[in-house]
Amino acid sequence: MDASELRGKYLDFFASKKHSIIPSASLVPNETDASTLFTTAGMHPLVPYLLGTKHPGGTRVADIQKCVRTGDIEDVGDNRHLTFFEMMGNWSFGDYFKRESIEWSFEFLTGSEWLGLDRTRLYVTVFRGEDGIPRDDESIAVWKEVLGKAGLSGGVAGTDEVIDGDIRILPLGTDDNFWIAGATGPCGGDTEMFYDTRPDEGPLSGRFSDLVDSGRLMEVWNNVFMEFEKKADGSLVPLSQRNVDTGMGVERTLAMLEGKKTVFETSLFAPLFRTIAGLTGIENTGRDGWYMTLDDDGRRSARIVADHARAAVFMISDGILPSNTERGYVLRRIIRRMIRHGRALGIGEGMSGPLAETVIVQFADFYTELNTSREMILDELEKEEMKFRETLERGMKEFGKMIASGISGKEAFDLYQSYGFPFELTRELAKERGVEIDEQGFQTELKQHQELSRTASAGMFKGGLQDQDERTARLHTATHLLQAALREVLGSHVFQRGSNITPERLRFDFVHHAKLTPEEISRVQDIVNEAIREDVPVTYEEMTVDEAKSRGALGIFDAKYGDSVKVYSAGEFSKEICGGPHATHTGELGHFRIQKEEASSAGVRRIKAVLE
Ligand code: ALA
Repeated sequence: MDASELRGKYLDFFASKKHSIIPSASLVPNETDASTLFTTAGMHPLVPYLLGTKHPGGTRVADIQKCVRTGDIEDVGDNRHLTFFEMMGNWSFGDYFKRESIEWSFEFLTGSEWLGLDRTRLYVTVFRGEDGIPRDDESIAVWKEVLGKAGLSGGVAGTDEVIDGDIRILPLGTDDNFWIAGATGPCGGDTEMFYDTRPDEGPLSGRFSDLVDSGRLMEVWNNVFMEFEKKADGSLVPLSQRNVDTGMGVERTLAMLEGKKTVFETSLFAPLFRTIAGLTGIENTGRDGWYMTLDDDGRRSARIVADHARAAVFMISDGILPSNTERGYVLRRIIRRMIRHGRALGIGEGMSGPLAETVIVQFADFYTELNTSREMILDELEKEEMKFRETLERGMKEFGKMIASGISGKEAFDLYQSYGFPFELTRELAKERGVEIDEQGFQTELKQHQELSRTASAGMFKGGLQDQDERTARLHTATHLLQAALREVLGSHVFQRGSNITPERLRFDFVHHAKLTPEEISRVQDIVNEAIREDVPVTYEEMTVDEAKSRGALGIFDAKYGDSVKVYSAGEFSKEICGGPHATHTGELGHFRIQKEEASSAGVRRIKAVLE
């Protein structure tokens, strides 16, 4: 059974249980949901329905959702972390609850017309109760019954969490069996299903956590019984309806079906590894099984290239473009890591095209958006690859010279200043090679440099250049107001892709999918001019990037600003990370007029505007 058959079976099964089949939502969360940068789980786009809004598909839905989790990008490369993955899920919005959910999961996993997995290799965990919530005796009872009917023992583990003899059910605490998507929102206890991946090693026995850590037990499916909403103050409030939210990874399930120890050994990754092997110059005949012939470092790099290629292609197809802010920055990091590890495998220029084509061909039948955005995907990836390669080649040479004695703050700063190496790249490379790096020293160098350049530019702009400088500062402030106005009129998907200011005009590139209508243009102008009329002060505060983010500042979350950044505010109109300089009051701007609105590149619009 390959991935497309697996997806088909899953959806057929839940359609047969009266679920509406819904398409995957975008990787970019809904505008109203600012809690995460990406869709991280199947339930994520469905939160409103878990909280009580009526879903157009009814009270039972199922789908296969594209997900991206980037919390631990630096762990990708081991044998189980993925940034992009597909999550199969079925939901009850106040409809069925624990019994049906558990019965159907068991039927789908073990039924001969469905996955036909060996039922004797299944183990389950349940919520043992904690923090005032009682133990989930209902799930335990249902599991005992379901396992019993299948001729299996239903022994329940004690607090030692040891599996042995007839034990198949493990009650565990909040850390393992209570699920929530972030800090707040719908949540509840869950039951998880695990599969014994190495029955050849004899009867399963041992502490549950050891069995999972060693990879002998692999998590297959998580059924969350969502009956609470966690509020910002930490309290749990019962929901108006009891829901089911389940999640089952396509990649892991395939690993079990194909009897593989890791997702990377499955048929899902084989086409990408064939392409990567081809790019390294291996003859066609040597490509199959190439991945298995690599040493540890080689495998790590191959996994990173494959994972990141999938993530980058899907991200771009959902309209995310490389940039220095938010999602665009994560994408940029992913593409750059992909190229760096491709290089480590001996791949030269032009790797992103063939990799992207492979992903598109493999997935476009199911995710048809890949076909429609094919050109944009190739174009963006190739552009980003070209840009990064130059930096990389020069910087790697320097880096190689430095590592013998550990990397000083000054050296890290030189890599950044002269070779364009973001600090985090230097840090990551240093970590990989076990080299010490003086982060504190780097920050000190950075600060000193910033002081110096401020003093220098203050001197330079005295006299003749002063007027020009002031005009530029005013246009700079106008750019902030423009971005805020665009977001108000068009939506919060708008963000800066580029900006260029001459003393005469501003030019602003931003992400948006359509030409602006004359009405939209005039509303944007009106909002900016309103902000100018109110003559609000333009002020800044220095803070850490995290603080800036948490206060909702827009901007370039780029390492080049170091740890501490300036956040410029124009009254309540705008808040943006920026180096300045700016006007001191919006009133200095005069009158704002948009001269031109046009396409800049796929999915990016360009505005030219003046102050009169
Ligand atoms: N929402 C649950 C998860 O992501 C099913 O594991």
